[in-house]
Amino acid sequence: MSTARKCRLVVLISGRGSNLQAILDQAARGELPVDVAAVISNQPGVYGLERARQAGVPALELDHKNFSSRPEFEATLIELIDRQQPDLVILAGFMRVLTAGFTEHYRGRLLNIHPSLLPEFRGLHTHERAIAAGETEHGATIHFVTAELDGGPVIVQARVPVLPDDDPDRLAARVLEQEHRLYPQAIGWFAEGRLRLEGEQVWFDGKPLMKPLRLEDCASLS
Ligand code: GAR
Repeated sequence: MSTARKCRLVVLISGRGSNLQAILDQAARGELPVDVAAVISNQPGVYGLERARQAGVPALELDHKNFSSRPEFEATLIELIDRQQPDLVILAGFMRVLTAGFTEHYRGRLLNIHPSLLPEFRGLHTHERAIAAGETEHGATIHFVTAELDGGPVIVQARVPVLPDDDPDRLAARVLEQEHRLYPQAIGWFAEGRLRLEGEQVWFDGKPLMKPLRLEDCASLS
């Protein structure tokens, strides 16, 4: 890993922050060349904020309920984020819909993790819906964020089997374990300058990515 300046990261959360923890842990072990500059939650008092504090990272609350409109909330959020001068902003269980004003401001430097194999199952309750649809495979996706909800260009996916006796919680736990490997992988690529967005096209290692990368193939890419 290069000794160049680390990638400055701001992480947006709304809840328990287990993906945040995976990133903090890898960064602390020197396996991910990032500095987590701040963690911001739109939900006050969530456990993810405590995880940030324990790691010595500024933990900020910005309760969207204190704003009368989405653009007003986002204007303040942008101010808070930009004060940190991040190279990359990541959504890690951030459960607010974002307007085009916000997503365009961070175009090409805003990532999201979504618990399904996009474009399947955008939106909420993905595990329940995958089981109800009789899927035999499910997973998680990292994508660049654009104005279309869960619709931005896909970078990499992790797959898990759906087992015959699965309930949404068991399936969610299996997916989450992969999420904790998936997000650091994608962030690492971005930090190393291997990943970028041009228009709607993801570029990886200097070539346009024609289909999503698969986490299970990633050992051969590093
Ligand atoms: C994760 O499963 C993430 O994929 C999902 O929220 C969970 C957050 O968990 N994100 C979304 O559903 C976004 N649409 P965490 O707070 O423990 O990281």
